[in-house]
Amino acid sequence: MVPFCFVIHPLSFEDVIRYEPGAAGKGKPIVAKILEWMPSYAAAHLTGIRTPDGRETEGWFVAAPLLPSQMLELPRDDVYARILAAIDVGVALGARIAGLGAFTGVIGDGGVTIAERAPIPVTTGNSLTIAAGVRSLFRGAELMGIDAAAATVVVVGATGSIGAACVQLIASRVRTVICVARNETRLRAFVANLAPHVPCELRYTVDLAAALREADLILTATSSTQDVIEPEDLRSGAVVCELSLPHDVSRRVALERPDVLVVEGGNMRVPGAFRAERVREPGTDFDLALSPGTALACMSETMVLALENRCESYTLGRGVDLEKVREIDALAERAGFELADMRAFDKAIPPEAIAATRAAADARRAALA
Ligand SMILES: NC(=O)c1ccc[n+]([C@@H]2O[C@H](COP(=O)([O-])OP(=O)(O)OC[C@H]3O[C@@H](n4cnc5c(N)ncnc54)[C@H](OP(=O)(O)O)[C@@H]3O)[C@@H](O)[C@H]2O)c1
Repeated sequence: MVPFCFVIHPLSFEDVIRYEPGAAGKGKPIVAKILEWMPSYAAAHLTGIRTPDGRETEGWFVAAPLLPSQMLELPRDDVYARILAAIDVGVALGARIAGLGAFTGVIGDGGVTIAERAPIPVTTGNSLTIAAGVRSLFRGAELMGIDAAAATVVVVGATGSIGAACVQLIASRVRTVICVARNETRLRAFVANLAPHVPCELRYTVDLAAALREADLILTATSSTQDVIEPEDLRSGAVVCELSLPHDVSRRVALERPDVLVVEGGNMRVPGAFRAERVREPGTDFDLALSPGTALACMSETMVLALENRCESYTLGRGVDLEKVREIDALAERAGFELADMRAFDKAIPPEAIAATRAAADARRAALA
């Protein structure tokens, strides 16, 4: 068996309390200061990962306990050191490959420097996140009755590691893709390079609100620490597939837009009887803010590589290789991983909610007409 570790970090103050219930009641500045000095540690033992053909692995969530804003603002080498210390904790427990969760795979050069300095291979998990995200987007389109071939899709964070690959995979299946990010120079170069090679209309803009007003389908994969998608800008009946962690779809969308389907795009059902058990309180479950038996696609990529005995730095840096996306997607399927049931805003989406969302969209369109 090849064990693995996966580096996690709190995405918000609510997450800090989820990880460490003892932090409840302490003020945010105090919690932030404690995190700055807190060493990396093993947070959860991951067991029960078993493929239909009998392969098994186990692993550990190792925490580099910094908030996203701290990951971005503290000196880069200090943050790398915290992530490497977390990987060392995993190595001491037997891990032979490490995954980089959320901002630990975003900051700096997207894992390249960490991989150079780590004692074991490292992957960001972005390849399987891309495959799962695109699948989730089109599953949402089908459920909402949207004809993908005629659809306009907005990819927010289109020049990023995940977003750029998603644009390329989506482009062959839809009418128009609008690429959105903040840096116009990078957007222009990205679209100019790609446009001759895709069959759809490909455009870019830095005006997110204007792009959203045209969108039937939206995929968001930004490194923003603030909300990016607001309810005022969304079309009735639109599907928003959110890959960003921390989430960047405003909670107001859940309250104010019952006619829009929001789905977390990167959640996967893990084969076997997957469980994350708190290291400090054995016997209690580590609250991942996901449905039982599921994991993020980036975690799943690390598990699949361990199951395949592929101890290699698989996905690193900004330019993700589409062949690897296809390969890890196929390996994950073979290992019994599949898209998890739909979820958004920390809750499962029951099948009947889709009919209600479609009805709300029809009613709103009729009212506007
Ligand atoms: N769900 C999962 O399993 C999973 C797995 C891995 C990663 N993730 C998450 O996916 C997200 C993207 O990761 P990545 O590695 O692709 O990051 P990345 O390479 O740094 O790309 C981020 C992209 O977001 C854009 N961006 C940042 N802030 C923005 C804003 N306010 N408005 C519009 N665009 C903005 C950036 O371009 P500009 O700077 O030009 O705006 C860039 O295009 C992160 O939140 C990460 O935590 C999720």
